[in-house]
Amino acid sequence: MEFSDFGKKLTRHSGILELMDDLGRPLPEGIKPYPLGGGNPARISEVEELYEKRIREMTKSREFLSVISSYDAPQGRMEFIASIASYFSSRYSWPITAENIAITNGSQMSMFFLFNMFAGKFNDRSKTILFPLMPEYVGYADQGIYDGMMVSVPSLLEYHEDHTFKYVLDRKAVSEYLDSHTEVGAIAFSRPTNPSGNVLRDDEVAFLSDEAERHNIPLIIDNAYGLPFPSIIFTDASITWNENIVLSMSLSKIGLPSIRTGIVIARKEIIDALSNINAIVSLTAGSFGQALASSLIRSGELERISRDIVKPFYREKSQRCGEYINTFFKGTDYYYHVSEGSIFIWLYLPSLSMATSDFYKILKTKGVVTVPGEYSFYGSEEQERGLKYPHPHYDKCLRLNYAGDDDTVKNGIRIIAELYRQYSKRTES
Ligand SMILES: Cc1ncc(COP(=O)(O)O)c(C=O)c1O
Repeated sequence: MEFSDFGKKLTRHSGILELMDDLGRPLPEGIKPYPLGGGNPARISEVEELYEKRIREMTKSREFLSVISSYDAPQGRMEFIASIASYFSSRYSWPITAENIAITNGSQMSMFFLFNMFAGKFNDRSKTILFPLMPEYVGYADQGIYDGMMVSVPSLLEYHEDHTFKYVLDRKAVSEYLDSHTEVGAIAFSRPTNPSGNVLRDDEVAFLSDEAERHNIPLIIDNAYGLPFPSIIFTDASITWNENIVLSMSLSKIGLPSIRTGIVIARKEIIDALSNINAIVSLTAGSFGQALASSLIRSGELERISRDIVKPFYREKSQRCGEYINTFFKGTDYYYHVSEGSIFIWLYLPSLSMATSDFYKILKTKGVVTVPGEYSFYGSEEQERGLKYPHPHYDKCLRLNYAGDDDTVKNGIRIIAELYRQYSKRTES
């Protein structure tokens, strides 16, 4: 059997496949698991109660049966779209209507559609997607249907005294890249960023927005963890939208990952295109998540629970995670990214005597499942030539999902620290 170029491109080994595979595959018998990989959000009882109540209402009134018994339009469920439009236009004074919103089967799919709409083969040339701040979400790396579609600029680094650091946009390099590469079809980033927990500052977003306009290309912002829901963001940051911004959102990280609901807010032309792609690829998005969330968005309940429950829940968890790191890594050469948002902690282990992709395998034998950092660095010319990604953190970082129960996170981190001591190049200071 032979697959087409498309078939080959999307079936070869990818970081996201390994990650999702890890989620579903049990560890060998007898090993206690410490699952710090994957992207599952936490189960928060107040959030679950809200959904339970809503589902009870839906089943009682037979709304549930009516929702599951018919397809929605390719653009999405019109009642949900109207709720999103009225909520965002009144909450943020954005000039949007139902024409500016499309629903997909999850934001992973939204990004796949968007990347391949704005990059790939054009009549006489190829275009790319520029990620202006590497490391970035592993799940984008292989989404292009052609090779070489993803390009990137490595982040700058800002180290702090308390063993933390922050990735910062290299504005000069981004500007120079855009000026010298007219084939860039769109700029894209996640904010908060998976894997690092970074949040691009408002002025960095404004800079990128200006650059995108200057080059007449869209700015795609993946807001899967951001405001107003799920609001897993712990730093001062605002969200913004204009006709040149494509804002991607999701219901996944507010406790609904399995119902696959992605929301895109963009100019009408882009929404029409997404609706058409939806029709061809999947007819329409699943209705259930949209029906479940619609009234919760309209009433402001989803925003309230995100702000009052979800945000503090994750902020406290991430702070505790920082404390565990400081306790167990004490005396070693370690750093972690300031936790500004998302459900991940990004550890930098400069003295590791091997690449994190190998360390990851050792950790797994002890039951600790993480995501090695290498997959989050992609889109460099060096890699095209078989070299490493040009970033000092390339093979020395691990992504830890801290959404699990505290004991698991704590003991997982303890084991990572023990093994780091064992596999460090330098003796401890
Ligand atoms: C930054 C980012 N974008 C998009 C997604 C995809 O989410 P979903 O397809 O569940 O909406 C994820 C999932 O982990 C993510 O971390």
